[in-house]
This record gives sequence, structure tokens and C-alpha cells, in this order.
Amino acid sequence: MKKNRFDKLKFLIVLLLLGGNVFAQTDTEKEIDKIIAQMTVDEKVTMCHAQSKFTSAGVPRLGIPEVWMSDGPHGVRAEINWDNWGYAGWTNDSITAFPALTCLAATFDEQSSYDYGVAVGEEARYRKKDILLGPGVNIYRTPLNGRNFEYMGEDPHLASKLVVPYIKGVQTNGVAACVKHFVANNQELWRGHINVELSERALREIYLPAFKAAVLEGETWSMMSAYNQLRGQYCSHNEELVNTILKGEWGFDGVYLTDWGAAHDTKQSALYGLDIEMGTGTNGLTYSKKNHYENYYLAGAFKELVKNGEVSEEVLDDKVRRILRLIYRTSLSENRPLGSVNTDAHHEVARRVGQQGIVLLQNEDNFFPIADKLGLKIAVIGENATRMMTIGGGSSELKVEYEISPLQGIQERFTNAEITHAMGYASGPSQYGRVIPSTLDADELKKEALEVAKNADVVLFFGGLNKSHHQDCEDGDRTTYDLPFGQGELIQALSAVNENIGVVLVSGNAVATPWTDQVKGLMQGWYLGSETGHAMADVISGDVNPSGKLPITFPKKLEDNGAHQLGELSYPGDSVNVEYKEGILVGYRWHDTKKIAPKYAFGYGLSYTDFEISEIAVDKKVYAPVDEITITCDLKNNGELKGAEVVQVYVGKNKSKVERALKELKAFEKVELSAGETSKLTLKVAISDLKYYDEEQSDWALESGDYYIYVGNSSDNISKRLKISVDSNVN
Ligand code: BGC
Repeated sequence: MKKNRFDKLKFLIVLLLLGGNVFAQTDTEKEIDKIIAQMTVDEKVTMCHAQSKFTSAGVPRLGIPEVWMSDGPHGVRAEINWDNWGYAGWTNDSITAFPALTCLAATFDEQSSYDYGVAVGEEARYRKKDILLGPGVNIYRTPLNGRNFEYMGEDPHLASKLVVPYIKGVQTNGVAACVKHFVANNQELWRGHINVELSERALREIYLPAFKAAVLEGETWSMMSAYNQLRGQYCSHNEELVNTILKGEWGFDGVYLTDWGAAHDTKQSALYGLDIEMGTGTNGLTYSKKNHYENYYLAGAFKELVKNGEVSEEVLDDKVRRILRLIYRTSLSENRPLGSVNTDAHHEVARRVGQQGIVLLQNEDNFFPIADKLGLKIAVIGENATRMMTIGGGSSELKVEYEISPLQGIQERFTNAEITHAMGYASGPSQYGRVIPSTLDADELKKEALEVAKNADVVLFFGGLNKSHHQDCEDGDRTTYDLPFGQGELIQALSAVNENIGVVLVSGNAVATPWTDQVKGLMQGWYLGSETGHAMADVISGDVNPSGKLPITFPKKLEDNGAHQLGELSYPGDSVNVEYKEGILVGYRWHDTKKIAPKYAFGYGLSYTDFEISEIAVDKKVYAPVDEITITCDLKNNGELKGAEVVQVYVGKNKSKVERALKELKAFEKVELSAGETSKLTLKVAISDLKYYDEEQSDWALESGDYYIYVGNSSDNISKRLKISVDSNVN
């Protein structure tokens, strides 16, 4: 009898516990409402702004934890001091650096993006971060933008496809991705105040789609504002952008935070969608007045507005609800894994993404791959053969456990060959964001390099840009499209003493390459992080067949780029405004439509094997608006090596009532094939994806009539063009 009563009690306790649990899991929103009901206005406001460089406060009384953040996007940044920008000097915060996002985009591979997201998310989780400040999806508008290396190229479809798996991968770790910088932060020059004017079509069709995909498909838990203004209002508190589009049309339920120091006004921050304000003003308490964070726009002054009724408490509650939701998704998530750092698996992901993203641009006389022959003399020339590229670049700078330089990678892989190295040129050190001219004698460096090159069988030049100010670096744009530090002349001089020369460009941006007639090989090597040298040596040696495709256009000269052909107001602007005069014709859309041949086109990249696309067909001639076009083709590897090719589908409309790009990327697939193998591919394009943004109706519109489907392996190498038509009377 007694036992029976005990069992009943136990049963009741289990029920209660289970009930509580089920409630917590299925009804977080109600739980959040209950918490909000217990909070004071002061407690709520304290959650809406920073309390240190990279955290915002919780409410200890109610057990609400702080939110910890870190840059992003290529790895987890070293710990920064609580209250100033100095590094904290921890000895346990070295991490894996993954390739820069331009390289990730060049893989044209969604699986690579997912693997990358999972791995960097695991490292963020291990480092106890709730928000990883990345990825960036600002569209590559000009090769001068100092921050292009952190973004996913010039095409909205490609960036959309690749941002989604990155977010999902990161968030499987209970770490929020923070997609940045919303929106039109397409230049670093004057980024803190410049006002961007652009057509509604350019905004909707080019600059917003990757952010939209991040919200609707990636379900990102946070997003970061851009520094600049859009149509006269700062992006951090922009009514149209944040209230109407992000939180309204797209139904974003996450947290919208400022870029560091990008808030400018209390009332606008309150009303136009800002949830957490970070990095405002000064260097924290170090040399500001006491209780500095209380002076943030979304702190004391905001509290006042709520208390005196100028801003309703519901507005504040909405912000707090979003922040609590993020906390439930991250630090309070029950299934949060523990994370890991510097594992073999992470290094393997970094290496694989690098291998997949390197783009072979030129290969005369099969210069690449280079065989490791006994006694072969390889001259490795150039500062970038040894320069650490995880240092510098701004907020994406990383403290790595190791970084394999290109030279080291070559030395490890080519054990039969004789490797010599000469620096060739010197860029000068960077200090406090300024580049100090090198004290090394440029003539001597050149002389030495020519001597080394003359006596070699093969010359490999590693050059490009670096992570210093006015190169690939935050808070400044490049000042020229040319290769800096006299590299152009040096390459020509080297080729005059040894014509068996190949160049590997280490950069996140296109550069002028007028010297390509004088070199045999050219590779775009990007910034590859910890595994740089290994991934490069893998491709240079032929252990891995290159399969990367350019996610950007290399114009022959800067003026050929749309943003640069239309005068200074179009780039860089007059320091107050910049007008995107090229409208929707960004990148290859401009080159194609205006018939300006690029040096290397979007989507272009060679392989050590040959592919052929044939039997290209579509399933119908006439489509209804609800249909999907099914494109089929055969892809054959005609060469003698295994390799991967990216089949690309573009769509264009030549007779239209609105301006159109000649063609736009709408689908792609990367496929690996053995020598001689053929694969049948099926790619799909929804007819609804052919809509343009109708500025008169303020809505997406589908035009009936004929369209062209272009299938090829580069935007300028189309194997076949097919005509289809869309008829709105068919269903
Ligand atoms: C950058 C952001 C970065 C933040 C925090 C800003 O300068 O624009 O991308 O996340 O600093 O370091």
C-alpha cells in the first residue's frame, strides 16, 4: 500500500517534470512573454546595448545570460579586452583560419559552404560565443572595395545559394550567424557616413537577394547593419529597410544589431528596428566618462523616451523579445553541442575549401601542374610566398594556431626539386593601420630575384595584394587597380630572364593583369587561411585538379567596370552621396550587356582536364508562370584526369519593357567526374525566378514572352542558347 502511494507520487513528479520540459521546448515564445512581464524598463533597456566591446548584458536577477559575440567570418577572432580594442593576450584563443569568403564563393559548391559553416561554428561554440559576426554578402560592385575578400562575389544568385548553408552550418552549433552588412556597404571609403542612392530595381534585384535568402531560407538568427546611409537614413535605423523590408516583408524574427559605432540617433534607433547597439563612440571606459555605456543611444536616453511615453514600451518589448529568442536559440538551447577547435577535421575543411576555390586562369603549354622531378630548380619569388595573411585586414584578422605559407607548402610537397626563394619586392610593414614604406632596397631585391629566376627551370611568382590599409583591408579602398609595389614591372623583368614562369595571385580582389602575354600560367589563389600553402601546393602539383570559378569579373582596365565608367559620383561619390548609376548592371551583367569583353569573366576557371557539355535541352517550349524549367545536359570528362566542372545556367530576355541584363545566373551545379566519365545532369529554374522588380507596382512581376536559356561553363563560354517562352494564359 505504502509502495503504491510512493509510485503514484513518483509518477506525478515525472509528469510534472516532463510537462515543464515539453512546455519549455514547444512554447518558448510564451516563456519569453512571461519573462518580459517580470522585467523592469531598466532591465529591458540594459539588454539593448553593449556593456563591453563584444558583449551585451543579461539580467542576473532573472537568470538571463549575457550575449557574447566575436568576429567572423573566416574564423573566430582572438579575445579582445573587455573595454578597449587591445587584444587580451590569452594563450588559449588560437584557432583555425578558413579561406576568405571570395574563395568559398569560387567553389560554387553548397556542400563546401555547409562544411565551412559547421566547422567555424564549432570553433565559435568552443570559444563560448553566442553570435559569430559573419558571413558577409555585400555585392562586389568595384574591385577597389577594400573589403570584397569578406564577401561572396558579384552575383546575387551565387551569394544567395552559398550564404544559406553557411548559416545553417554555424547555427547547428547553437551559435547565431550574423549576416552583414545590411545593406549597400559596397565601399569602405567614407563608409561611416556616405549616403547610397540607387534604383529600387538595383536594390531588390542585386543588393538584397542574398540577405533575403539568409532570412527566408537560412533562417539567420541575427543580422548586422551597414555603416552607410541608404536614401538618407542610416542603415542601422532605417525605416524602409529594417521595418518594412527585413522585419515586415521577410518576417525576420531575429536580432538586428548595429555595426560597431553605426548608431546615430535615439529615437530612430528605437523606432526603426535596431535591437542591439554595439561599439558606439569612444574607446569604452578607458578614456571616456564614467559609465560610458549608459550614454549609448539605446541606453539612458532610450529609457527616458520609454519612461516619458514618447516611445511605447511595446517597442522596447519587441527588441527584448528578439534578444531573448536569440538567447533561447543559443546559450539556453538544450541541445547545444560543446564545440571544438583546431581539429584535424577543421583543418581538412579549410584545405578542401581552398583546393576547391583556387581558380586556374591561364595555362599555356600546360605550365601547371608542375611535376616534382629530381633536381628540378624551382624559383619561388615574391613577398606573398611567405607573408602571413591572417594578420591584418581589419576585424576579420585572426590569431591562428598555424598558417602554412605558400613557400612552406611548396617545400613540403616538392621534396625532389630544389627550391630557392627570393622576396623580389617589399610592401613595407603596417603599423596602426598605416603602411610604412619598406626600408629594404627595392633594386637589390629585384636584382636578387632576377638572379634566382635566371638559374631556375621554373619560376613561380606569388604576388597580389595583402591585408594592409589600401589593399584588401577594412576602412579604406584600394587607390589603384594595378598590382602594387612594382610587381607588374617585376613580373615582366622576371619573364625576360626566364620565360617558364607562372603567377599565383594572393588577393581577394581582381587586379590589372596586362603582363599575361609574358607569363605561361596564372592562378587566382585568394586568401586561404591556415592551410594556404598546402591547398596551393595540392593544386600546383596536380594532386588536386583545379575546379574553382571566378565569382567576380576581372575587367581589363578599371574603367571597364560599370561603377567606374559613369563618373565620380558613381564611384566613389562626392563624400556625401554615391549614386549607383549602373543600376542593375553590376559585374558581368554590365560587361555582357554593354559588350565590353572582360579579361577573365565571371564563372570562368580552367581545369587540367577537358569537359564537354552536350545534349542540352529543356523540357518544354512554353511555360506557365507556376512552372519550373527542367534543363538537362550531358557533362563529359574528355581528358585523362579526374576533375570537377561547374555547369552554369543563365537566363535572359532580349525584348522587354524594362532594362535587362543580357543574361543572369539562375542555376549551377558542380560535378566531379573520372577520366572519360559522362554524367546526365538536371538543373531547374522556377519561372517565378525570372521575375523583375516592377518599380511602378512596387512588386515582383513576370513578363510573358520569349526568354533565352544559356548553358555553359562560364558566363563567356556558352555551349548552347535555347529559346523558351512564358505565357501567363497557360497553367
Ligand atoms: C566591422 C564589422 C565587425 C565589427 C566588430 C566593424 O568595424 O565593420 O564587420 O564585425 O567591426 O569588430
